[in-house]
Amino acid sequence: MPLNKLSKEEITENYNKKAFWYDILEKIPELLGINRIRKNLFRKASGNVLEVAAGTGNNLRHYPEDCKITLIDLSRAMLKIASQKARRQRLEVSIQEMDAESLEFPDDAFDTVVDSLSLCTLTQPVQALREMARVCKPNGRILLLEHGRSSKEGLARWQDKRAEKHAKRFGCNWNRNILGLVGEANLEIVSSKQYCFGVFHALEIKPPQN
Ligand SMILES: C[S@@+](CC[C@H](N)C(=O)[O-])C[C@H]1O[C@@H](n2cnc3c(N)ncnc32)[C@H](O)[C@@H]1O
Repeated sequence: MPLNKLSKEEITENYNKKAFWYDILEKIPELLGINRIRKNLFRKASGNVLEVAAGTGNNLRHYPEDCKITLIDLSRAMLKIASQKARRQRLEVSIQEMDAESLEFPDDAFDTVVDSLSLCTLTQPVQALREMARVCKPNGRILLLEHGRSSKEGLARWQDKRAEKHAKRFGCNWNRNILGLVGEANLEIVSSKQYCFGVFHALEIKPPQN
């Protein structure tokens, strides 16, 4: 599996720089129907919700109204946009700069833990998944919307060929094996859907029972 070519500091700097453009670039996955997938998956969130690597807060509008929401991300500039969106949507949201790979929350603190489109960027995705499981209540849910290596061999090989260059340029490892990472973190998948030639995954996951 390719390693992220950027350090954590470089990733933070990179997203601080591109925060302004992020939602404009997001129009590309939107054309592939990402908003509908976000909506269908994240309306399943309930109670006390933590979203890790939340970026500019693109999932905020999809959570049920009675959720209590906390967003964390490494990039201050991305979170600033998330905070403006929360204000516009009249949502009360707790927003904190924090590393998804070492969360500053106690065990079993949240009913739902969410991550979208970030396992490709994280330097230690399995460690981040373990952290998500640690802070999720045993009867809670982890909801993931991720992109990775296609299930279609031709497309997957095309991704592999360009993966190194893409990772160096964008800090995005687009050929990661998403189901493999979830397996490595020892998490149990409750439901799994794939979209766009198996590139996108919508996963509902059960944290390990203590
Ligand atoms: C591709 S963006 C996804 C943003 C958002 N989740 C979405 O669906 O639009 C990746 C985000 O991961 C954040 N990130 C990368 N590494 C992180 C880490 N170790 N801890 C927290 N956030 C991180 C980046 O700052 C960026 O906001």
